[in-house]
Amino acid sequence: MEDRYLQTKKQKIKLQREYEDAAILDIGGGGEGFIGRLYGKNVIAIDPREDELLETDNDSIKLIMDGRALKFTDENFDVVTLFYSLMYMNIETKLEVLSEAVRVLKRNGLLDIWDVDLPDYKNDGKDVFVAQLDVELEDDITSTGYGVLLEGKKQSKSSIDAMLEPLGLKLIKEECMDQSFRLQYKKL
Ligand SMILES: C[S@@+](CC[C@H](N)C(=O)[O-])C[C@H]1O[C@@H](n2cnc3c(N)ncnc32)[C@H](O)[C@@H]1O
Repeated sequence: MEDRYLQTKKQKIKLQREYEDAAILDIGGGGEGFIGRLYGKNVIAIDPREDELLETDNDSIKLIMDGRALKFTDENFDVVTLFYSLMYMNIETKLEVLSEAVRVLKRNGLLDIWDVDLPDYKNDGKDVFVAQLDVELEDDITSTGYGVLLEGKKQSKSSIDAMLEPLGLKLIKEECMDQSFRLQYKKL
């Protein structure tokens, strides 16, 4: 069974508060709910899976919602975050979710993405990819793993950038952590 797994080494991610009094939408905000842990009540966390939202332990507002059809009017949020959520989506879903994220973002608002390079599925039986993370947040380190079926999920910084540039976003910050990356965009 283990032969199915392609695992990264531990990706070390440090999360610090950077936004004060911002209205934040966290797409795919279930699971560990790191953005909700960092910003509490300032965050609306949406996820189509109720079980993922119930797993979280933070003060965010949690709504069962698909990122492809956000139930918010245009230009509502100062910040939209996706923390290792795009890796769970195929290309069509990524495009729909990112275009919705941009729609609900205010002008000059920020889209903040943390994710990982995913290789093409080679049909060699290694069909499950696991990003292993050590996430440091307020002097606490949480070890976790995000696993996904590889087929149809290939992505990189440049593939995400190619989707966002036509949506009118400007890349203002880029960080690399081994196979992981953070991309921060501003809506013009
Ligand atoms: C690895 S988890 C994200 C981890 C989470 N952000 C955290 O802090 O631990 C990816 C999440 O993306 C969600 N997701 C998948 N497709 C989605 C979609 N279309 N819209 C919103 N969330 C989606 C999954 O249900 C899953 O909970």
